[in-house]
Amino acid sequence: NIEGASSSNFKRKPVIIIVVGMAGSGKTTFLHRLVAHTHTSNIRGYVMNLDPAVLTLPFGANIDIRDTVRYKEVMKQFNLGPNGGILTSLNLFATKFDEVISVIEKRADELDYVLVDTPGQIEIFTWSASGAIITEAFASTFPTVVTYVVDTPRAENPTTFMSNMLYACSILYKTRLPLVLAFNKIDVAQHQFALEWMEDFEAFQAASSLDHSYTSTLTQSLSLVLDEFYQNLRSVGVSAVSGAGVEAFFKAIEASAEEYMENY
Ligand code: GTP
Repeated sequence: NIEGASSSNFKRKPVIIIVVGMAGSGKTTFLHRLVAHTHTSNIRGYVMNLDPAVLTLPFGANIDIRDTVRYKEVMKQFNLGPNGGILTSLNLFATKFDEVISVIEKRADELDYVLVDTPGQIEIFTWSASGAIITEAFASTFPTVVTYVVDTPRAENPTTFMSNMLYACSILYKTRLPLVLAFNKIDVAQHQFALEWMEDFEAFQAASSLDHSYTSTLTQSLSLVLDEFYQNLRSVGVSAVSGAGVEAFFKAIEASAEEYMENY
């Protein structure tokens, strides 16, 4: 699905960073932090907002779905609820996505990154046809990396951790793009435990065996399955609030973009 990557139109820059995460993981705050970092460190970036329903963003978007599609009008016109409205707006935008790609192509020499914010309801992007169309359009033209933002304090619970990893894993297999896990909110809880659990499934099993439920047995079995998934990704701890880990995050993105250039 990303065969175009080898065509002569393929660009080395900018690197597209598609940011996804469960509601409340801190996606928007993290993007705000990344934008602030690009401003102070001479990194040249664009920001793209793909959430038609967001009222205010803490950062200015260079390309904004809201400039093209009126979410409220779409809801009225097609008699849809909030999620149907977001999905239909995204579908309408996806039909014009070649124009978006050309805008970025024209600016390619002046840009290092394009940071892409996705709708708050993660599945609207990750499981929709338009999400797939947009992702493929990016990936066939530029090196593209997916960032999955994790709420670290919540992931201290082994079952929540496993749910998050299964979701991230499904995104990796669906997009087949390099994946960076951003363990956010490390100002509240360090992500060391997560690195340990990913490196050593026995450590994870020991933690989850403290919970004597059926899901804990399932969780323990799944930890073995996910071992290979863990080998295929990069993890960094970040704090959108304090700014910790942002440089390490950009290093992980660079390494992932290199991997993209070699493998796709
Ligand atoms: P939706 O856009 O609604 O999906 O949410 P989101 O994932 O974008 O999360 P948002 O950025 O709105 O953050 C959710 C909550 O987490 C807010 O109260 C933030 O202030 C808080 N938060 C985000 N990042 C951090 C962080 O690094 N540390 C701490 N302590 N809180 C954070």
